[in-house]
Amino acid sequence: MKEQSFLVEKALFPAAGYGTRFLPATKSVPKEMLPIVNKPLIHYGIKECMEAGIFNIGFVTGRNKRAIEDYLDNHPELEQKLDEKDALHYLEEVDEIINTCTFTYIRQKQMLGLGHAILTGKPLVGRDPFAVVLADDLCLGNPLREMQEIFKKYRASIVAVEEVPPEKINRYGVIKGKEIEEGVWIVEEMVEKPKPENAPSNLGVIGRYILTPTIFDYLENTPPGRGGEIQLTDALNTQAQEEIVIAYKLKGRRFDCGSVEGFIEATNYFYQLEKGERKENPKKEKDKKR
Ligand code: UTP
Repeated sequence: MKEQSFLVEKALFPAAGYGTRFLPATKSVPKEMLPIVNKPLIHYGIKECMEAGIFNIGFVTGRNKRAIEDYLDNHPELEQKLDEKDALHYLEEVDEIINTCTFTYIRQKQMLGLGHAILTGKPLVGRDPFAVVLADDLCLGNPLREMQEIFKKYRASIVAVEEVPPEKINRYGVIKGKEIEEGVWIVEEMVEKPKPENAPSNLGVIGRYILTPTIFDYLENTPPGRGGEIQLTDALNTQAQEEIVIAYKLKGRRFDCGSVEGFIEATNYFYQLEKGERKENPKKEKDKKR
């Protein structure tokens, strides 16, 4: 039997959702393709993977998502036109991604939730540990790189968490845990979208995970939960009872680009960064936000 790898080498991007909060734009444009300045959200997520040593990237897509594949492929006609104008530099950043990573795709035929999307991606990741990136969470300070370090130490599933104010806690999966080192918890329980009075803590799970392959067994045995969807939180909760699940607190800032407000904040932030008016300093940015 294959030994479990020490480092995570694959990532899965579930990208089949409807993007309801961004309708009507997401009626025909995948949420993951909405641009922050001049690059789509997936571009930032893939760069984060590359910086964390992950180059094998699978997408769980659905109807209306072909723009993702087109973005991550060559475009000979366009390249020729740009070459004639000596303007190939416009494609440099995306070419770097295309030439360095391997992309695979699978379609989720029914949108039955994040857990179901991950289960759909099983043929792409096999029996290896893998990262999950929800591209609409745009993170500073590369949490995946830090999660790789934690994975080396604990070899368990890891969820990234951040402190969430009570009025927003009902939008998150929330953990109860025991802190084992600064900013790292062993998860004792996970609850999906609790009412503020029932939330076991203020630590909400955001869109970065490292999952060990047994998660597929738990997902296969997870009945539909909230909203008739197969919830990743429910499967992780079972994994936390039977094995170990770690929570890691984000050090940098996260923009929730699935919401209009977060998307605008990210756009302003990256525009200023591009103009050179702001230096990326994830920690300071986060402190400033509070
Ligand atoms: P969200 O809960 O953000 O749903 O999904 P959504 O449809 O993308 O957006 P809203 O909330 O309706 O505005 C979290 C992630 O899981 C994926 C989404 O694409 C997103 O990356 N997902 C969700 C799937 O791939 N399939 C599903 O059935 C549900």
